[in-house]
Amino acid sequence: MTESHHSEPVIRAARSTDVPAIARIWRDGWADGHAGHVPEELYRHRTADTYPARVRDRLDRTWLAERDGIITGFVVVVGDEVEQVYVDAAARGTGVAAMLLEHAERVVAGAGHQLAWLAVVAGNARARAFYERSGWRDTGLLDYEAETATGFVIVPCRRYEKVLAETDAAPRRA
Ligand SMILES: CC(C)(COP(=O)(O)OP(=O)(O)OC[C@H]1O[C@@H](n2cnc3c(N)ncnc32)[C@H](O)[C@@H]1OP(=O)(O)O)[C@@H](O)C(=O)NCCC(=O)NCCS
Repeated sequence: MTESHHSEPVIRAARSTDVPAIARIWRDGWADGHAGHVPEELYRHRTADTYPARVRDRLDRTWLAERDGIITGFVVVVGDEVEQVYVDAAARGTGVAAMLLEHAERVVAGAGHQLAWLAVVAGNARARAFYERSGWRDTGLLDYEAETATGFVIVPCRRYEKVLAETDAAPRRA
């Protein structure tokens, strides 16, 4: 067996130079997690060209995982909501998703919230299994307002919640 020389992934705040890599992971991952599980109307809005602007809009609330200089995933935290969790297909099943989600939880806790929430489409079985294994609880149906360039599309989702530990310090952005 060949020896691996990969370094450990690190989590850091996103920068403007990261926009293309994040947009690519988001675009590809969106199809993986949502195709067949969201209203047809949303597909018309989620074209490849829309992702860079959506990444830029959230850049100061985005954290990413990087390993050997390669971006492998990202999370977006908006208040008490973990708004996005995406891992590149090549890095799924490696534990990087758990690192990102734990970081997002610390960001929410650090902002003074005792409860974090997120929305996931019912048919996204892999994500739901991941959240449940990570200590999140399915609290029921939620009509989520998915943002588009012209307004929003209502997407039937499940709402997941996690009660956060009070001991976590607020991570500061670089
Ligand atoms: C959701 C995501 C971040 C999870 O990261 P990940 O590295 O794939 O997660 P893990 O592999 O650690 O855990 C996934 C779990 O689902 C299981 N799983 C894999 N494929 C599955 C499938 N098709 N159906 C159900 N469960 C599945 C895995 O076995 C694992 O469970 P286990 O650890 O109990 O065996 C990642 O899959 C992703 O980026 N998906 C595309 C984008 C997305 O859907 N994001 C979430 C939007 S809410």
